[in-house]
Amino acid sequence: MCSPILLDAQIALQKDQFARAHRIFSRISALQELHIEPQYCSPFKLQHDIEQMRYLLKKRKLPKKFKEDISRYTAGLALCRKIGTDFIPLIPSLKEYLGPNYGTLFHLFIPGKTEKFALNQRQDFAFIEQEYLALKNPIVVIDQVLSKASLRKLRKMILESAIWHDIKPNAHLGARLTYGLSSPLVFQIAAELKQKLPKVFAGLSLKQVWAFKYAPKNSGIETHSDGGLVNLNMWLTPDEDNIDPSTGGMAIYERRRPTSWTLNQANGYDNLSAVKRLVSQPKVKRIAVPYRFNRGVLFDSRLFHETDRFHFRDTYVGRRVNLTFLFDRD
Ligand SMILES: [Fe+2]
Repeated sequence: MCSPILLDAQIALQKDQFARAHRIFSRISALQELHIEPQYCSPFKLQHDIEQMRYLLKKRKLPKKFKEDISRYTAGLALCRKIGTDFIPLIPSLKEYLGPNYGTLFHLFIPGKTEKFALNQRQDFAFIEQEYLALKNPIVVIDQVLSKASLRKLRKMILESAIWHDIKPNAHLGARLTYGLSSPLVFQIAAELKQKLPKVFAGLSLKQVWAFKYAPKNSGIETHSDGGLVNLNMWLTPDEDNIDPSTGGMAIYERRRPTSWTLNQANGYDNLSAVKRLVSQPKVKRIAVPYRFNRGVLFDSRLFHETDRFHFRDTYVGRRVNLTFLFDRD
């Protein structure tokens, strides 16, 4: 983060001023819509956007003129499939062809705070905290992590909000705070986490929140370690959409990124063979966490981890989605 407005957002997060952080991120989103050109498209991105527009048109949440966008995207998709890679540069002729809505926040549902709690109050947070702090390599699974009210709102956001603009390898799309993901509910979750697990988050502040949406069948994200110290990853697609319940989750290795490594070395595809060598050492245990709807995985984000292979139903509403909160030292 370097621009003054991003720095302002970071300071608000550092001070746990979440309402202010949301206001700043909303301003950043509006600015990006005005100033930042999308750089790429991909077959999965176009397919996703076509399905999302159809979904919103059916619910009468988009003007009918979006049917023209669907026609253009469908022709664009045929072209992108011929090219066949995950990152297709958005050359001027392709951009013009897709039209002015491509890469914009053309529809948003911004979930407000829940009246009661965002986290499931039936959880024994004192026990979760104790368990986390006692482990040398902390990995704690929290089933039914969110309240029903927040789950409903987040599901609506995932399906309705046109926030899926980060084109990633292996056919998945990312959403970020600086471009439409910020909401009062997302920050309510962060605030409650800090309040319910005060020792886990002592001296730490929220640094990043992101969400990923995946193609139905894939190997997901390769082995990596995230910046920061504590990661809460949660899954937001109903179990009925997961065709193979023995897969679909994630695996975490009981091996932290070496302190001498840069974040790029620990997180980049360029260094993947070195990462694989580290985690395949015989002493390194691999903990598989199967996918479950509304399951949270709280872990030390320095530990190497990867998406498990997965197979979800090939429907717009059935796409595998995760929402991740990353905390680090102030
Ligand atoms: Fe990660």
